[in-house]
Amino acid sequence: MEWGMANRMAQLIQSDGHCLFLPVDHGYFQGPTRKLEEPRKTLEPLLPYADAVFITRGVLRSSVDPGKAKPIILRVSGGASMVGKDLANEGITTSMEEAIRLNVAAVGISVFVGTDYEKESLLNLAKLVDDGERYGIPVMAVTAVGKELEKRDARYLSLASRIAAELGARVVKTYWCENFEKVTKGCPVPVVMAGGPKVDTQRQVFDFVYDGMQKGAVGVNLGRNIWQDEYPVAMIKALRAVIHNNATPKEAEEIYNSEKSGKKK
Ligand code: 5RP
Repeated sequence: MEWGMANRMAQLIQSDGHCLFLPVDHGYFQGPTRKLEEPRKTLEPLLPYADAVFITRGVLRSSVDPGKAKPIILRVSGGASMVGKDLANEGITTSMEEAIRLNVAAVGISVFVGTDYEKESLLNLAKLVDDGERYGIPVMAVTAVGKELEKRDARYLSLASRIAAELGARVVKTYWCENFEKVTKGCPVPVVMAGGPKVDTQRQVFDFVYDGMQKGAVGVNLGRNIWQDEYPVAMIKALRAVIHNNATPKEAEEIYNSEKSGKKK
């Protein structure tokens, strides 16, 4: 691996081999998502605990101080919306030249395997990889399911993740699922887990993140279950402990409760 690519990968995946990416890119198709209406307010308290931030160029420029930024994974796909015809109908929205100008650590793009736009989204990924490799910029592929959340099983996610890796993604972002080892074993590049819509309890999040880490994930790219939580800083600190210190779900829950009540350990 050339120096620039290796350096960028090291900015993303920490020296322990693990990572906590904080995505705040949801507005690119959802508009002002709950608790992300003012991205700067959401982001600022969480930034110290994130290893990298997944974000569009518009929110990066408007809401992140360039002097205090974390490594950036720039969301470069889009062109569809929640109220449009098909969320899978995405194109590349941001050039590699712009990514370089913004000094990003990686770029991220969604692929929509099994949809009417499968081919377009996969060819977009392949093109982005060609451009990224030319300049030493890793591509993170997002195995997107749009509104079809029920697609998130090991059979589908292992298929989509493997295809993304075959096309040259350096990191694959997918969802946790039962039998998650099938996804990680079949994917020859690092896998990070997204959270999806907010779940009912913090413990559910700690449980699936812990399980996924035991089964080969290198970390998370987890948004709503952090910043839509009532105590987002407590949540991200507890998740950091699972990811970087191998804390169990029970220990993570204790950290969350302690941070929440202000009695820091
Ligand atoms: C949205 C994304 C998000 O980055 C991804 O879904 C992770 O966020 P969450 O944990 O909220 O699902 O790709 O477009």
